[in-house]
Amino acid sequence: MKPELQIPCPVVVLIGGNGSNLQALIDHPQHKLSYHIAGVISHRENAYGLNRATQANIPTLTVDHSQFAERAAFEIALQQAIQHFSPRLILLAGFMRILSPTFITACPYPVINIHPSLLPDYKGLHTHERVLEAGEKETGVSIHFVTDELDGGPIAAQVRVPIFSHDTLVSLKTRVFEAEHWLYPQVVTWFAQNRLKNDQNVVTLDGERLGPRGMQLSYPFVQGIVS
Ligand code: GRF
Repeated sequence: MKPELQIPCPVVVLIGGNGSNLQALIDHPQHKLSYHIAGVISHRENAYGLNRATQANIPTLTVDHSQFAERAAFEIALQQAIQHFSPRLILLAGFMRILSPTFITACPYPVINIHPSLLPDYKGLHTHERVLEAGEKETGVSIHFVTDELDGGPIAAQVRVPIFSHDTLVSLKTRVFEAEHWLYPQVVTWFAQNRLKNDQNVVTLDGERLGPRGMQLSYPFVQGIVS
């Protein structure tokens, strides 16, 4: 049975580090209107994102992966922590643990992830280093529904980000992060407003079926300077 539509849609954000995407979700004008961050769960006890949540009066839990000998036990504890917040959507934002097919299949709510590349290109880690090494002229951000394939679920939306000849790892990361922070709250808002749907890996926005790379959005980058 599908969970009832609720506005604002209660979401749980799973983090593991800095939490800058969490901050963007907290700061967005649709937070508390369309979606509501009911809780933040970290798999590391010292993740800076936990401080960001506390600052915003959002309850937190830590399910420290290092305390579990087996992934199955970690995932049971994680699912219990998620249930505690009664969400309708789970957001991965720097959560650095792979969730098993068992977890994803049993999960009663959709799970959405943000990835710093134009999927299906550059799955996995160290995307910025790899696109620079490959001499790519553009990269981007993808937001996708999570399936049992790593970085492989159906894509909801992408933003393309230019790469300039003078870019360094730092300048490129900064530009991509700006696009991440712009895109993630927007896609979560679509979902919360019941406009974005994933029905058996067919993604629709306002009833229109999206292409394999999801909704293509542009963000105003001006000559290598983030405007
Ligand atoms: C982001 O680059 C996100 O795309 C990736 O992990 C990073 C998390 O950064 N999945 P932050 O913790 O939100 O700052």
